[in-house]
Amino acid sequence: MFENLSSQPADELLGLIKLFHIDPRQNKLDLGVGVYKDEHGQTPVMHAVKLAEEMLLRDQKTKSYLGPEGDLRFVQLLQPIVFGDEALGDRVCGIQTTGGSGALRVAGDLLLRADPSSRLWISAPTWPNHRPIFSACGLQVLDYPYFDTASQKILFDEMLETLSKARRGDAVVLHGACHNPSGADLNHAQWDAVIALCAERGLLPLFDLAYQGLGEGLDEDAYGVRKAVGELDEVMIAQSCDKNFALYRERTGALFVVGRNRDAIASNLAACARTIWSMPPDHGAATVRLVLESAELALLWREELAGMRARINAVRMRVAEVEPSLAFVGLQRGLFSNLALSPEAAQWLRDEHGVYLSRSGRINVAGLRVGDAEQFTRSLRAIGYV
Ligand code: LMR
Repeated sequence: MFENLSSQPADELLGLIKLFHIDPRQNKLDLGVGVYKDEHGQTPVMHAVKLAEEMLLRDQKTKSYLGPEGDLRFVQLLQPIVFGDEALGDRVCGIQTTGGSGALRVAGDLLLRADPSSRLWISAPTWPNHRPIFSACGLQVLDYPYFDTASQKILFDEMLETLSKARRGDAVVLHGACHNPSGADLNHAQWDAVIALCAERGLLPLFDLAYQGLGEGLDEDAYGVRKAVGELDEVMIAQSCDKNFALYRERTGALFVVGRNRDAIASNLAACARTIWSMPPDHGAATVRLVLESAELALLWREELAGMRARINAVRMRVAEVEPSLAFVGLQRGLFSNLALSPEAAQWLRDEHGVYLSRSGRINVAGLRVGDAEQFTRSLRAIGYV
């Protein structure tokens, strides 16, 4: 049986983690996988999370099953962070998922349950795992133009033109903030126009909100989501706590669905989860719940998140300052920017200069310390990029 299988290429981004660790060079730079690092090059557990974990360890009485929906109090407490203070009442339901990826998978499965001929649009370029996840669901996946790496410009007219030809009922994946891989986000007027187009053409936005709070702020990064929820009957949001609570390997996220027919939606979400992971792991969600239930821990978390955001933006400003031809890095937001580098140039940077980045030219800006900006731009100069 298994002789029919052919070997699969390892995931490039995840492969970089291993390669970086075994590289003995002292001055190597890890700009690969999207993980926040502090000025010591570490990805620490947040203090608010540590304190909540201590409470959990002390007070948790049972680890008995919760059910396919996971921790619904966690889901409820995330709602104001995603949607703001406006109560959505019966318009929204949610489910705990295994990180943002799990939320995307359930969203794809739900779309197919609702309509077996569902199609879904993703941005070009996008997170490399979007297409594989949605294709694995069985969805027909199409691209809309979003970003031109050579000019570092959002292809907004092209995006609208392509989506204006989408079929009524098609889903459109929109990066709520901190576009992965470009770091280039829509401005308010552009969000308004995209959402007006969704309303006019009957398109269903599926927001990937994996980086909320790492761009401009928790509320600012939710502009598109909140606008869509205000204007449209149906919206999906894949939320992740992996980055903004630095819970990465705990795989903590949620899928929210706004729409009429709430009970049927909720029961289908549970049925989707039951066939994928049956019930989600508890630790990350229970920890976030304890953070958000405590005014003190929630404030500490917000402060720590603001510190992470400020550090990323300080690195961005420093890179732009040191090398004016990289001014775009200072204007973009979130963990990523995408340099117009060939795979060979990316490889060269890694082999010759110890700079680890994706073959697509994507860099995780948060992998740099402010003081690394000179070394980084020197490496780019050495390969003739700047
Ligand atoms: C990334 O894009 O680097 C992150 O979202 C991590 C991942 O799972 O690929």
